[in-house]
Amino acid sequence: MAHHNPMVVANWKMNTSLADATVLTQSIIRALGGGNQADIVLAPPFVWLYPVKEIISALKQTRLYVGAQTMHDKEEGPYTGEISAMMLKRIVDFVLLGHSERAPYGETPEKVNLKVKRALEWNINPIVFAGEESENTPVSKLLDTLDMLLHGVAQTDYHKLTIVYEPVWAISSHAHAHAVTGHGLEVVTDAVRKHVGDEPRILYGGSVTASNVSQFMHIPSVDGVVVGSASLKAKEFVAICSLISAA
Ligand code: PGA
Repeated sequence: MAHHNPMVVANWKMNTSLADATVLTQSIIRALGGGNQADIVLAPPFVWLYPVKEIISALKQTRLYVGAQTMHDKEEGPYTGEISAMMLKRIVDFVLLGHSERAPYGETPEKVNLKVKRALEWNINPIVFAGEESENTPVSKLLDTLDMLLHGVAQTDYHKLTIVYEPVWAISSHAHAHAVTGHGLEVVTDAVRKHVGDEPRILYGGSVTASNVSQFMHIPSVDGVVVGSASLKAKEFVAICSLISAA
């Protein structure tokens, strides 16, 4: 099996002022110190990508990367308000694609598939989200969605992919949200691993906190986590990174 370095993605969504983003990044770097073994991706809003990247470079923190929360599938053109891979290329190493909160903006699996291929073309590593709307949906549906998301992606690019299993019902902003159980997760991620092979990383996202992350990190088919609301609290986020890094 391909060995994956553990990964933690901080999805800040539409949160933080410039001052918040600066303090959060500095606090994370300070608290991580030199012992961090995990690859950590900070995904701030577009306008803070550059400042966050500058702080990371200035403080010389290794294994800390910047990711965009989405991008357009075209390179340039009359798409008011949109950002392309070509623009992101020099700033980010990763891009989140297909997060369920992007669906209202037209991100169908077909669109996300175009974005995945465009990101790869520009050497930006795609972090691709998939997850069911309601509990007890058969895993086969998730695998079908993955087929659509990854359609036409060359096998030789699979090692650049990160796949996130993030059930919509588990995202903390949803009413009655709760994280999956370790066993429930293993069933799904084992099936995903079998389906996509050893190369892509597989992460779990949905209500991950410092107190529940331990139940996910011992699952062999899980390489890390995506953290939403808990990533906005430096102390808790660093605790999650330390637990993942030590796993
Ligand atoms: P959450 O968000 O950790 O707040 O549930 C995760 C996400 O939506 O990526």
